Amino acid sequence: MKVWLLLGLLLVHEALEDVTGQHPPKNKRPKEPGENRIKPTNKKVKPKTPRTKDRDSADSLPKAQSIMTQMMDKGRFQKPAATLSLTAGQTLELRCKGNKIVWSYPAYLDTFKDSRLSVKQNERYGQLTLVNSTAADTGEFSCWGQLCNGYICRKDETRMGSTYIFFTEKGELFVPSPSYFDVVYLNPDRQAVVPCRVTVLSAKVTLHREFPAKEIPANGTDIVYDMKRGFVYLQPHSDHQGVVYCKAEAGGKSQISVKYQLLYAEVPSGPPSTTILASSNKVKSGDDISVLCTVLGEPDIEVEFRWLYPGQKECSEVLGEWELCVAALRSFFSPCGCH
Ligand SMILES: *[C@@H]1O[C@H](CO)[C@@H](O)[C@H](O)[C@H]1NC(C)=O
Ligand SMILES: *[C@@H]1O[C@H](CO)[C@@H](O)[C@H](O)[C@H]1NC(C)=O
Repeated sequence: MKVWLLLGLLLVHEALEDVTGQHPPKNKRPKEPGENRIKPTNKKVKPKTPRTKDRDSADSLPKAQSIMTQMMDKGRFQKPAATLSLTAGQTLELRCKGNKIVWSYPAYLDTFKDSRLSVKQNERYGQLTLVNSTAADTGEFSCWGQLCNGYICRKDETRMGSTYIFFTEKGELFVPSPSYFDVVYLNPDRQAVVPCRVTVLSAKVTLHREFPAKEIPANGTDIVYDMKRGFVYLQPHSDHQGVVYCKAEAGGKSQISVKYQLLYAEVPSGPPSTTILASSNKVKSGDDISVLCTVLGEPDIEVEFRWLYPGQKECSEVLGEWELCVAALRSFFSPCGCH
């Protein structure tokens, strides 16, 4: 069984004494509101459904107006299509109407804390600017408004916008991968994705097994190719194990991707489990205390630790997916006094 263990450690000095919270530990301050963006982790993009002529049925659903616009040259704005192709190097500017816009963009841009990306909130719109774009920026860019009740906000499903952008770069048919070799876990009750995405909308992509060398048919019943995700194994099976790679062809050129090791892992899926442990639950004023938060779960899951503790000034945490530790911490330190 493959599991990963992640540890978050909070060191609190005189925390219990300092209940009014005038001096939260300096370097452990809570995140600024802007840092609390919901992370675009392992985004699940719906598999593409074949386009049908029957638009009426789709239109009868309550459809939200996209709040996103793209800045074109000469200061013109237009609503972006569901997919866009831009030449790498170009500057991308997107705006979304609203005063509390949250953005999601390719995780790659977060991982490297990229200075090419800037996200600003103006009075009436949020603005995302990406300069010196590269093929690696290819992916989904989306935004949404928030409905807030006090400090707790949730996604406003009626005010969203999204576009998938292909940044086409010479010599890069595949979205570059940070590593030369990637591991993909095959889990019996979950789709598995070989994430070879392309930068050219019209590229023809095939999947290949390394040994014995042969093309793996992706015929739509077992394995499908989704431009926005890669090759999706709908029902992963231990027979699918092995090393595979993708091949893309466009404009008379062809290229192969990095290699992917498919590993079968029969781990029951489910949310990670968290435990919280304090070095002591009774301390004298002036003593140090450490609080250890442990998350046990499957690999590939992104875990973000956030801490809430009594006396904390900024209680304006937007509760996200990974509030388990926080919740546990809150009950340990109850009452927290945050709402
Ligand atoms: C963008 O590219 C230009 C020209 O190469 C460079 O001078 C500039 O520093 C780059 N900007 C960022 C934010 O990387
Ligand atoms: C799809 O390919 C699998 C083998 O990978 C084969 O068993 C199946 O019959 C094929 N289905 C269609 C509809 O071609």
